[in-house]
Formats: sequence, structure tokens, C-alpha cells
Amino acid sequence: MKRLARFAVGVVALAGAAGCLTARASEESSAKATPIFGVELPDGYRDWPLITVAREEWLKDIRAVLGNERALDAYRRGRLPFPDGTIIARLAWEYRASEENEAAFARVLKGPPGERFGSFVAGHPVNGVQFMVKDSKRYAATGGWGFAQFDDGKPADVKVHQGCFPCHEAARERDFVFSRHAR
Ligand code: HEC
Repeated sequence: MKRLARFAVGVVALAGAAGCLTARASEESSAKATPIFGVELPDGYRDWPLITVAREEWLKDIRAVLGNERALDAYRRGRLPFPDGTIIARLAWEYRASEENEAAFARVLKGPPGERFGSFVAGHPVNGVQFMVKDSKRYAATGGWGFAQFDDGKPADVKVHQGCFPCHEAARERDFVFSRHAR
């Protein structure tokens, strides 16, 4: 019985040490998390369902908005506010004229010589990858959303993150989310 008790104490001590280790590990990995909101790049976001696409002429990009299953489900049901666990991603690419597509249209559609069809495609990724992560308690001060931007996989700076919520407040009536579901 005594031995068992000692064993139990040992296990508790070990668990405590493991806890410390985890805490230290997460401090070290905080370079991967965004300032202010502490969001890490979500796993597998690139394969999430499409919510919509958009084009920002002033930013010279074309963009896609993706959502995890919880986001998609809320969109389908028209559920507002979005439930905790929702994550919405915004990807963007350079808006690039496609000579290849132009040539194909010109060859087959036989318009007047030199006619431009105006075919554009996604080029290099630009303007970072952005996320909104719903956790109504943790992010109570910013409408329940944590905001995150990664440039080449690295968290953007504090200043960038200070700008997110003030602008998204314009969409307060739709739980701070601008994008509608393209059906
Ligand atoms: C000056 C205004 C402005 C700022 C600053 C801004 N956003 Fe947005 N954001 C928008 C608008 C408008 C849209 C919808 C159209 C689009 O995607 O261009 C959008 C779309 C999004 C989306 C897709 C969901 C939605 O609301 O439509 C995410 C995710 C997002 N922004 C995250 C962020 C993050 C993270 C930051 C800060 C790093 C940020 N935004 C800063 C205006 C802004």
C-alpha cells in the first residue's frame, strides 16, 4: 500500500514536470503564433471548402475565402453569430493576365485581329493569408474573433493585427464577417 502511494506521488510529480515542459515548449513555439491574438497557422486550411471569391483592384489581387466545416455549416444554415470553433480563411493571389488563355480564345473565337478577351488568372500568392478564429470568451474584446495574418507562413507584426478589428467592425451586423456564401 505504501509502495502504491509512493508510486502515485511519483506519477503526480512526473505529470507536473511534463506540464512545465509543455508550457516551456509553447512559449518557445510562440514565434509561430500571431501577436495580440496568439493564433497559429491552422492545419489543413488549404483543403477547406470554398465560401466565395473576391477581387480587390486596389490591392491588385484575386482572393478566395475558405471556411472550416463549422463555418460552412453556419453559412448553410444562415446561423449568426458564428459558433465557437469557426475559422474563416482569406487567401489572395496576384491578378495576372493570361497570355496562354488569350491565345486560345483568339485562335478559336476568331475575333478581330489584336482583340483582347481579358483573361486573368491567379499568379503568385500575395497580401498574406488571413484568418478569423471564433472563440467568444478568449476574444470577447474583439467581437469573439481572433485575427491572424501570416506572410510566407510567418505571423505579421503587431501593427498589422491592430488594424483588423476596427475595419471589420463595419460588418458588425453580420458578426464582423463581410463575405457571403457564393452559391
Ligand atoms: C481596411 C479594412 C480591412 C482591414 C484592415 C482588414 N480587413 Fe479583413 N476584410 C475586409 C473586407 C472588406 C473583406 C471582404 C472582402 C475581401 O475579402 O476583400 C475582408 C475579408 C476578410 C476575411 C474573410 C471573412 C470576411 O470577413 O469576409 C478574413 C478572414 C479577414 N478579412 C481577416 C482579416 C485580418 C486577419 C486582418 C488583419 C490582419 C484584416 N482582415 C484586416 C476588410 C478589412
